[in-house]
Amino acid sequence: MALQVIDLTTHVGSEIRTDVATLVNGTEAQNIRAILERRGIIFFRGLDISDEQQVLIAKTLGNIVESEGEGGVYKVSLDRGVNQRADYLKGSLFWHFDGSLQPYPNLAGILRAISLSDVGGQTEFCNTYTAYEELPDEDKRAIADLRVVHSAERSQYYVRPEMSYEEIAFWQQSPGHTCPLVWTHKSGRKSLLLGATADYVVGLPVEQSRALLARLRDWSTQPRFVYRHEWQPGDLLIWSNTGTMHRALPYPEDSGRLMHRTVLAGEEPMN
Ligand code: OGA
Ligand code: MN
Repeated sequence: MALQVIDLTTHVGSEIRTDVATLVNGTEAQNIRAILERRGIIFFRGLDISDEQQVLIAKTLGNIVESEGEGGVYKVSLDRGVNQRADYLKGSLFWHFDGSLQPYPNLAGILRAISLSDVGGQTEFCNTYTAYEELPDEDKRAIADLRVVHSAERSQYYVRPEMSYEEIAFWQQSPGHTCPLVWTHKSGRKSLLLGATADYVVGLPVEQSRALLARLRDWSTQPRFVYRHEWQPGDLLIWSNTGTMHRALPYPEDSGRLMHRTVLAGEEPMN
């Protein structure tokens, strides 16, 4: 079945209408990848997709990361009874991309809404290609060669502003990772690399570094670059993790919100 693509905002987000068989057999996979790169996030609504089908669909689009979750499906929940790493996942309420500490950040994330919160819990996405492209030339010149150190510790300050020494020591066990601020992709296009793990700009005084990272985040997440997904049960959403940042809007930990996530492995380093 052919794809019907409905763009939701100017720069980011499209709904794609098709059927489960088309997604599982992969006949439109190339096309879907191209739309994903162009639109940043895509979703499929009203299809009755199982965990097994979610993984099959993911495999038509790339290589899945098997190490998280079971059978390629990881449970995203802020409830410790459901996910032991719920505290770490609270970092997902702040703008970020996944895998900033890896040499190859994930290509894409796939979320399927199993159960939703009565309040909050929408997910927002911003297009970091467009955010770069629309920067004033003066900014592009000023940031062209800057590098940023990302750390797990930094993102935890958003979750727990007054961490104990032991907590800080724990998060510092994960080594920091230095990335360019401007990522030049294999395609030649450029995007901004920011987010909650972005700790400091190498070589800048701390105040300037913090101010620049905040200014670029504000720029990238202004409404015209953002799509907010209002979930319906069963929605299958795929985001390009190399060309967007995302965050969940706050929701109660005990709301029962549960997403099943499958991750596509990164295909290019950040350089
Ligand atoms: C993620 C994530 C956001 C959400 O799974 O990487 O950030 O809305 N999820 O649950
Ligand atoms: Mn995330």
